Amino acid sequence: HLPNTGYNKDMEIQPELAEKISHAQYIVALTGAGVSAESGIPTFREAQTGLWARYNPMELATPQAFQRNPKLVWEWYQWRRQLIAGVKPNQAHHALAELARRVPQFTLITQNIDGLHRQAGSQNIIELHGDITKTKCFDHHHPVSNWENSAEIPPRCPQCGSLLRPDVVWFGENLPQEALAAAFSASESAQVFLSIGTSSLVEPAASLPLIASQNGAILIEINPAATPISHLAQLTIRHSAAASLPTFVDQLWPERI
Ligand code: OAD
Repeated sequence: HLPNTGYNKDMEIQPELAEKISHAQYIVALTGAGVSAESGIPTFREAQTGLWARYNPMELATPQAFQRNPKLVWEWYQWRRQLIAGVKPNQAHHALAELARRVPQFTLITQNIDGLHRQAGSQNIIELHGDITKTKCFDHHHPVSNWENSAEIPPRCPQCGSLLRPDVVWFGENLPQEALAAAFSASESAQVFLSIGTSSLVEPAASLPLIASQNGAILIEINPAATPISHLAQLTIRHSAAASLPTFVDQLWPERI
């Protein structure tokens, strides 16, 4: 008894499902760390290799952690910035940028803070968890792009003097309101919703595929591992994103001539 993967026995997508997917007017994709894994950025929750397997998020990614040890937190994010600065978008990022050019309407929502979708040419990206290349101050969230190179780590806000921190969402913090509202609205209207490379464990992002599905979207999951939303998906692609997305996009949305 084969699981209901949406594929027939030759690993082709069932024709009726393929037809519906390729004729949809509005496609929404939600991405997570798995999309950047093949660029060389570690994911969070995978045993052995995930960042949260090696580091304690409560010591590095909460406002309280920053207040306790701002230098440690600042330096950990500097390390991640350097890691990210040294990598390039992969085939998954490129395939999603291409998909936007092939369908009538497309929205890309990401939990990633690495900017690789932008580098691959995607536009109007909804960044739910911030952008690691940006900096703001702790007390007033003033955006800061230049600061004095004093010996102090972290440096201080030129406007108010409070400590600088990365412009990312930490545990216990709210997501950027505008981005979240846009993500909910896109998910409600989607006809096809792609969940790619995310464990679907972190709220509120994990609710987006559920909302899409409840509103009638065809849910597709691309992830080598099962997740809590897998049972809702009409199609599950158990492969790496970089290996499967280019073929998947070409198959469903062949380039218009
Ligand atoms: P996780 O580390 O929780 O999950 C990564 C998912 O990617 C897993 O389900 C893997 O099976 C899958 N995966 C691994 N390699 C893959 C590949 N090559 N292709 C496709 N999928 C692959 O990462 P996220 O779901 O992104 O939040 O985590 C969500 C949030 O938790 C992050 O944005 C971060 C973290 O704490 C903040 O920092 C606010």
